[in-house]
Amino acid sequence: MPTSSIPVITIDGPTASGKGTVAQRVAQHLGFHYLDSGALYRLTALSALRSGTALNDEHALAKLAGALPCTFVGEKILLANENVTEAIRAEEVGNTASKIAMLPTLRQALYGLQLRFRMAPGLVADGRDMGTVIFPHAPLKVFLTASVAARAQRRYKQLIGKGFSANMEDLLKDLTERDARDANRSIAPLKPAEGAYLLDTSDMTADQAVEQVLAWYASVKKLA
Ligand code: DC
Repeated sequence: MPTSSIPVITIDGPTASGKGTVAQRVAQHLGFHYLDSGALYRLTALSALRSGTALNDEHALAKLAGALPCTFVGEKILLANENVTEAIRAEEVGNTASKIAMLPTLRQALYGLQLRFRMAPGLVADGRDMGTVIFPHAPLKVFLTASVAARAQRRYKQLIGKGFSANMEDLLKDLTERDARDANRSIAPLKPAEGAYLLDTSDMTADQAVEQVLAWYASVKKLA
């Protein structure tokens, strides 16, 4: 099957909108591969923090991103054979990822790596620019949103569940700042792709959101 005919479902949205959970479940349901593109920015951020790379050194950061020794094994994420699945979820790493994601050379360095996830029988890709930049011709593009309050609540539960400490007020502030940074940057800003289906999950369970995405996919497949 030529790569260009391998189906892709893109799920973009702001931080803690639930896109990761929904994308993973949709991929599982369809037997598709899954790309968590945010993890690549987080892995670069973790590498930068650990190596003491200055967060304004675009060239050095792009070099780190272009040579990330990362492996995805099921739900496990390895960096040079170290299991960093939990470590990359820390708030400091997420905030750093959001800051360095503004750098065009770094985004370019991650471009090819993301395309390589497109493998038969299909791919579900989640992030900020999956539908706008990386897979603009995907047959189904979804933009998932939820209110800041609903997202802060979800992130709080997620962090506590993973054994991190969390403070609701700080989370609300971080989310709002990160939304603004992700949406207002000049390169690949967070916004719905052309033709994207919008899904507000504030009052939805993850199962309901998954069902909706699967229903949309079934309908676009019928039209293809
Ligand atoms: O989805 P996430 O919270 O794991 O992503 C972490 C940061 O990475 C996010 O704040 C912005 C950046 N990111 C991006 O710029 N483009 C993507 N496709 C995915 C993530």
